[in-house]
Amino acid sequence: MLSKLEAANQYIRQHRHRVTNRPHFHFAAEIGWINDPNGFIHHNGEYHLFYQYNPYSTRWSDMHWGHATTTDFVRWNYKPVALANDRPYDANGCFSGSAIEKDGKLHLLYTGHVVGEDGQVVQRQCLAVSEDGVHFEKHPGNPVIGEKELPERYMLCDFRDPKVWKEKDSYYCVLAVRNERRRGEIIMFESKDLVKWRFHSSIYQTAEEQNMLLECPDLFHLDGKDVLIFSVMPCDPEYAGQVTHHVAYAIGTLDYGTGRFEVESQGILDEGPSFYAPQTACGPNGERILIGWMQSWSQGGLPEAFAFNGMMSIPRRLAVEDRKLLQKPFLPFGDHFALQACGEVGLSSGREQVVLEGHSGHILLELSKSELDELKGNVLAFHLQRKDDQAITVELDAAAEQISVRSGYADGRDYRLDVRVDEGLVLELFVDLYSLEVFINRGEKVFTVTSYAAKGSLSTVSAAQPVRLGKLESRVFCHGGSGGSVRPL
Ligand code: FRU
Repeated sequence: MLSKLEAANQYIRQHRHRVTNRPHFHFAAEIGWINDPNGFIHHNGEYHLFYQYNPYSTRWSDMHWGHATTTDFVRWNYKPVALANDRPYDANGCFSGSAIEKDGKLHLLYTGHVVGEDGQVVQRQCLAVSEDGVHFEKHPGNPVIGEKELPERYMLCDFRDPKVWKEKDSYYCVLAVRNERRRGEIIMFESKDLVKWRFHSSIYQTAEEQNMLLECPDLFHLDGKDVLIFSVMPCDPEYAGQVTHHVAYAIGTLDYGTGRFEVESQGILDEGPSFYAPQTACGPNGERILIGWMQSWSQGGLPEAFAFNGMMSIPRRLAVEDRKLLQKPFLPFGDHFALQACGEVGLSSGREQVVLEGHSGHILLELSKSELDELKGNVLAFHLQRKDDQAITVELDAAAEQISVRSGYADGRDYRLDVRVDEGLVLELFVDLYSLEVFINRGEKVFTVTSYAAKGSLSTVSAAQPVRLGKLESRVFCHGGSGGSVRPL
């Protein structure tokens, strides 16, 4: 009889041909459902990305860990499924977790999710080790962090998502947990060998009146600070509507002696509805790279017929500047994106100019301070994925200092983002078959939205009043070819 892991791999081999419409430059599964990125790490010359995975359906269930590797975040190699929920301590799912290299071997720390016969949920942390970076052995001593290690004031039913790192000669991990008053905290454990763990401290707590769990915490040093990232999940149903799923960060200093995390500033990572549970990895040159699930629990997924559901965002390189977290796109254009058009653009009122002819690509608009001043009283509108009424619209209102994004799909909401215009404006749009990622002012703000209804291939720009734009540039995704010629816009 096939093991659960072999069965999953066999199912994928037999059914992956049903997926024929994956996005062009965003990661999606071979077949089935994905959510959170897990175990994101640069190891032996490539990035490994694991992910919450149910190969058998386009719905969340029975979490496995899928696995893929890449060197450029455009071309991905699917690997065999790394973990299946095949042990008593992870019987109902191998939930989110992280990876670390020790003694040259890849170690995964993940949450074993068990639902008892009485419906009682128990979550404990488990270890799996690999010699070759592909096949993983679950540790015989699993679970390695459970009721013995967790102080009694915390609840074992919401105790998950370990993110591990090494500091001096110790390993640490941060985890999401609920305290006995059902409020979310982020707690830290310490270990010398990744097997024996002890409770270290509680580093971040929600207030009594805040009814939320802080899922998928991630803590790392960056630019002289410690940065904590977490995904906020609304909790008990009686508070539904008060909080929506979103991703937040706190910048400060962690004192490893006292276990206190002194917060200096806080913010939101993504202003859009389709970004959740991100995780970071350290690149080969020390860069901190973040990748997120390009969807959210409060949002519908792909149409059933697609046979896959869920995508990952493009990677973002993080930096701390002026107590803010900046996120810059970290996608090498290389051979994958060909410069299609660039130059000055003159727009007469109401007339549309095609800015992107392909199905997917990148659009860059740079406006100096004086060009922005000239735009006041005017509205610039990008219509993306044009051939459908459900197109995504991005509008810049320079006088109001606002960018608004409206997607026919998603929730139909008009999202308004305040933008800083005192030094000009840089707007970058990454358009793929089913998604848009907007980067404002080189990473000051990011907005992510998915849209499955549109099937168009033209993106256009128009203005309410005539205007001349200094620099507008677009690159079309060209599947690895060297691309077409550049023509002036
Ligand atoms: C976040 C999350 C994690 C959990 C996983 C289960 O999206 O809820 O907290 O480990 O998804 O798939």
